[in-house]
Amino acid sequence: MKLLITGGLGFIGSEIARQSIEKGFETIVVDKVTYAGDLERLRGYEKKYSFYKEDITNREGISKILLEVKPDVVVHTAAETHVDRSIKDPAIFIETNVGGTQVVLDAAKEVGVSKFINFSTDEVYGALGEDGQFTENTPLNPHSPYSVSKAAADMLGRAYFHTFNLPVITVRPSNNYGPWQYPEKLVPVMIFKAHMGENLPVYGKGQNVREWLHVKDCAGAVFAVIEKGQPGEVYNIGSGEEKRNIDTVKAILSLMNKPESLIEFVKDRPGHDFRYSLSVEKIKRELGWEPEITFEIGMKNTVEWYLDNLDWMKTKLSDLKSYWEKAYYK
Ligand code: DAU
Repeated sequence: MKLLITGGLGFIGSEIARQSIEKGFETIVVDKVTYAGDLERLRGYEKKYSFYKEDITNREGISKILLEVKPDVVVHTAAETHVDRSIKDPAIFIETNVGGTQVVLDAAKEVGVSKFINFSTDEVYGALGEDGQFTENTPLNPHSPYSVSKAAADMLGRAYFHTFNLPVITVRPSNNYGPWQYPEKLVPVMIFKAHMGENLPVYGKGQNVREWLHVKDCAGAVFAVIEKGQPGEVYNIGSGEEKRNIDTVKAILSLMNKPESLIEFVKDRPGHDFRYSLSVEKIKRELGWEPEITFEIGMKNTVEWYLDNLDWMKTKLSDLKSYWEKAYYK
């Protein structure tokens, strides 16, 4: 099988690429290599995949790659993904996530594929209070520029199924964590800052709840969807591991033997979604997929991985310093 992954040098895309290579699939990575893309993530897999440096908004370039490669399956993960960046500068989220998705869908339609996995997110459903869960039938009600751009891309993919019969399958994962995540997201920010002895910026009072899914489990679910998922369907991918942010941060500090006095409550993210929680009954029942990595084990391994890979983290430090100066809300 030939698997083409857009955003294959990103955090989730590269895990899908590694698992694809390990399964013996012919693996093709397309990536623009923005700040969030990095060839290092496929260290050790050189010569085992083909790589095309391309921006998904470049219609001619993407079409050429797909016509040349003729993939069986496209896994479309390429996107701008950070909510805080979408609040500071929404335009590129619409351009890449909406416009870029349309380009990739058009190219897949032109060449013909057996499956198109469109990466969405639990954030398209909006936010929950203390109770309840999102099912695949929950109406979309996104709140941030990021989640609006993902909801548009999600609906566009489903429109290509209904209108053009393109075999699009939509996946909506919860918060991923694990090795190789760029340190702008909660888990690696906290590990990196704790390591450096800096304060850990927790938004508001840290009461917001996120459902933590190990990236290996997320990629595993994607392969279950490739194997058994039905075109036109939507599958939630979650772990059931719901935590308040403050508890996630305390767990990280404890694993690192660092004091909780490093925690600093900072101004909240505007429009901060309180809680996401996914029902995963459908993917369990229909595809037989279940997460395997508990929060306890996954977070321990993740902290160890970052501490063993500080050299990689340090290559990001100068970019991060200027990002962090502007990132937090005043
Ligand atoms: O839910 C899936 C989504 O999870 C993905 O679609 C997004 O691409 C991904 O970025 C993530 O969105 P979040 O906004 O939930 O992730 P983030 O790591 O930015 O924040 C997680 C929680 O931690 C959120 O409630 C905000 C809070 N936070 C985040 C950062 C970076 C802090 O308290 N301090 C921080 O420094």
